[in-house]
Amino acid sequence: MKSHILVAVAAFYLSGALAQNYDVSSSAPGYAIKGKPHRTKTGLEFPLELNSGDGVDLYGKTINDLVVNVDFETSDRLHVKIADKAAKQIPVPDTAFGLERPKLRKPAKKTNYDFKYTDNPFGFQVIRKVDNEVIFDTNNYPLVFEDQYLELTTGVPDDANIYGIGEVTAPFRRNNHQNVTTVFARDAGTPFYENIYGSHPYYNEIRDGKAHGVFLLNAHGMDVFFAEGRVTYKVIGGILEFYFFVPKDGKPNSVLEAYTDLIGKPFMPALWMLGWNHCRYGFKNISHVNWAVDGYKAANIPLETIWVDIDYMDHEKDFTFDPINFPEESMIALSKKMHANNQRMITMVDPALSTNDSYAPYERGHEMDVFIKNNDGTEFTGQVWPGYTVFPDWWHPKAAEFWDYEIIEWMKLLDLDGLWIDMNEPASFCLGSCGSGKANTDPPLQWELPEEEAAKIHAEEQAALDAMGISVPGDTRNLLYPNYAINSGGGNLSERTASMTSLHYGDIPHYDYHNLYGHAECSLTRESLLKYKPNERPFILSRSTFAGSGQYVGHWTGDNHSSWDKLKNSIAEIFNFQMFGVSYSGADVCGFFDNATEPLCTRWMELGSLYPFARNHNTLVASSQEPFLWERTAEASRRALAVRYALLPYYYTLFEESHRIGTGVWRPLIFEYPEEDAFLDNDVQFLIGSNVLASPVVNENATSVDAHFPEGVWYDWYTNEAHVSTSGKEKVTLDAPMEHIPVHVRGGAILPLKTPEMLVKDTYASPYILLIALDQNGEAEGRLYIDDQHSVEQPETSDITFTYKHGVLKASGNFGYKDAEKIGTIKIVGAQDDIKSASCKGDKVELVNKDGALVAEDLDIPLTGRFTVKFN
Ligand code: GLC
Repeated sequence: MKSHILVAVAAFYLSGALAQNYDVSSSAPGYAIKGKPHRTKTGLEFPLELNSGDGVDLYGKTINDLVVNVDFETSDRLHVKIADKAAKQIPVPDTAFGLERPKLRKPAKKTNYDFKYTDNPFGFQVIRKVDNEVIFDTNNYPLVFEDQYLELTTGVPDDANIYGIGEVTAPFRRNNHQNVTTVFARDAGTPFYENIYGSHPYYNEIRDGKAHGVFLLNAHGMDVFFAEGRVTYKVIGGILEFYFFVPKDGKPNSVLEAYTDLIGKPFMPALWMLGWNHCRYGFKNISHVNWAVDGYKAANIPLETIWVDIDYMDHEKDFTFDPINFPEESMIALSKKMHANNQRMITMVDPALSTNDSYAPYERGHEMDVFIKNNDGTEFTGQVWPGYTVFPDWWHPKAAEFWDYEIIEWMKLLDLDGLWIDMNEPASFCLGSCGSGKANTDPPLQWELPEEEAAKIHAEEQAALDAMGISVPGDTRNLLYPNYAINSGGGNLSERTASMTSLHYGDIPHYDYHNLYGHAECSLTRESLLKYKPNERPFILSRSTFAGSGQYVGHWTGDNHSSWDKLKNSIAEIFNFQMFGVSYSGADVCGFFDNATEPLCTRWMELGSLYPFARNHNTLVASSQEPFLWERTAEASRRALAVRYALLPYYYTLFEESHRIGTGVWRPLIFEYPEEDAFLDNDVQFLIGSNVLASPVVNENATSVDAHFPEGVWYDWYTNEAHVSTSGKEKVTLDAPMEHIPVHVRGGAILPLKTPEMLVKDTYASPYILLIALDQNGEAEGRLYIDDQHSVEQPETSDITFTYKHGVLKASGNFGYKDAEKIGTIKIVGAQDDIKSASCKGDKVELVNKDGALVAEDLDIPLTGRFTVKFN
């Protein structure tokens, strides 16, 4: 198998981007309302007409007649759509992949927002009623609406607190850093501030302690400029379809609830998916994989799931086996071994399929005609790992049937537990349809060639692409080189992906669907897995995502580096995905590119152990980074994973909440305490739900952390020592020696815990532990969700609320799940001196003082109905 030097990928991009215009187009004439707005079923509709004047056709063809639809959809959601009257522009299709707009019959009765417009020039404002704050305001800025260029600006405070717009590797609070964010799916090894894999034109703003959300439902490439006092969108197609989310309480969590009401709630993972994952690109053979699995066991480090990357494939072709290093029997045996040990196995599947005509998946797809086309009707043929490849066209009516077959056969063959779908931006290593009409001769990877040779090949590809035309029949747009060049780090739009002039079903150019390609694959792959096992929650991890993908898949943040800045920034990236409705997300622990060092991997294992999705992953040419290879890393991993596994019932309960409501599993402090300015820029500490605060070390050589604590009592996870915080503004220096990640529990919380073991199943085999962390009034509250841990349908679930007040612990709520383990231990922190004895159902309960907590052990309290425990 050939070796790929991935580190050189970034250097290969040939930049073609034009200089960016950061300004608003003040010369544009704008539009005026023509005629009277009229009522529709759900709001208002009015026509707009272009004002006369200069400054038209800035970057495309000006569209004179527009229609504005304003729908007062719910009390906290407003929809404002500005579209061309002729409906020639291509919006995000309303017909598939969960992107259908809600069909409403009447407007919301009461709204938390007002909508105001001005006639000429047309502009609008969205006003938050509770404090009359204008949260979106396009007045004073021109509206530009051309076939390949839309521009709209909203005024915001000079020093606004804006979070979101992605996918990007950048600090969490966006507007005081680099001021343009490009949204255009791209296979790029996580360069800071550049567009990468996914497309999420959504932001959350916090103003005066209250939050609102703004979503531009548009899948075209765009630049979003964060300038002083304004946010400007510059979009190269489609229509302007905005949604505003304005919950009455102004809480960031309520904004997420409203956003995910629209785009879809995050999927509910099975419990085992919360265990630890290990992967690497560059397992040399099956023994190497077995070595990693066994190494974890020997070092007593939990491992739930092993992942096998493209290494297992024959010449990197999906659904095949390298006959020498990963023969089919050996992969089947690995899967059996994992299952026999109550562990799991997942493999990689890329969308691009080798064009080799003895390759059955290609032949089947070719027969069904389901691949993306060139504009002359031939198959678009790019280049990915196996050489020349075609790309499934998810919009083709037979694509689902094609994909179902390939996926289900593969799942069955290896009895797999899930799928990892990668390279779905889609990535292609050459420019244009470089393999069209050629035999699959395994072309070289251009970044491995001497620069001159690569440039020559690239120039030939460019000429061939241009020769096919900058447009497609019946379409006058310049799809290859639109006049407004978004700031894509890849340069020209077709670099490293399908060409913009290639065609999807219905002759839709890739230009119009590019940002949806990965999302469509996520949706179809989930459907396939549900056909395979209809009542098993599918596990899919995807690199490319769009708004709403979180209802189908989890996400890892792509090809990061073994570096301290990437370790730190992984926290902001995971915050983003929590906000984008993809709560099951994480970054490659210990870093993908470059060689990890012991200190870096140690700190990263500590942090990564608490990621919502937790996996160590590495690239081909980097040195091994299995956590058992370094003594200190192994010790840190054991300790931090013990925290994760102890918290499993708490995580699982949070995932259920995320699935039902849309809130994040990880939360930035500012999302829980939006009124505390000191938290606005804090993207290092993170809350797991509302009750567990982690303060990781993210700097080399540091052995302490300066941590913020929201007002109240916070108990050290390890020692139960109380820290009383009188203001979130103060910082406290916490000791954080090498193997230690500081974790605190909020006073006022009751956490359901387990005794950590090496496997999720074993961890769940023992009874629950209730940790009652009292606040300053001696009170606490918590929640526990229980179901069968893996089925889609859940006829019986438990949703239990625990309260502790005046020395009485009460469990109430719904106790539908009858097979739940019992409560074996209750631990109270914060009341050592006040409590002398305890009783449950009249029986005395033994209390012991242990490690700064009062502990009642060997209890046998069933979770099948209400109960109380009294403490005196
Ligand atoms: C891409 C993925 C990476 C994977 C590699 C080989 O770079 O992002 O995770 O290891 O491809 O499949």
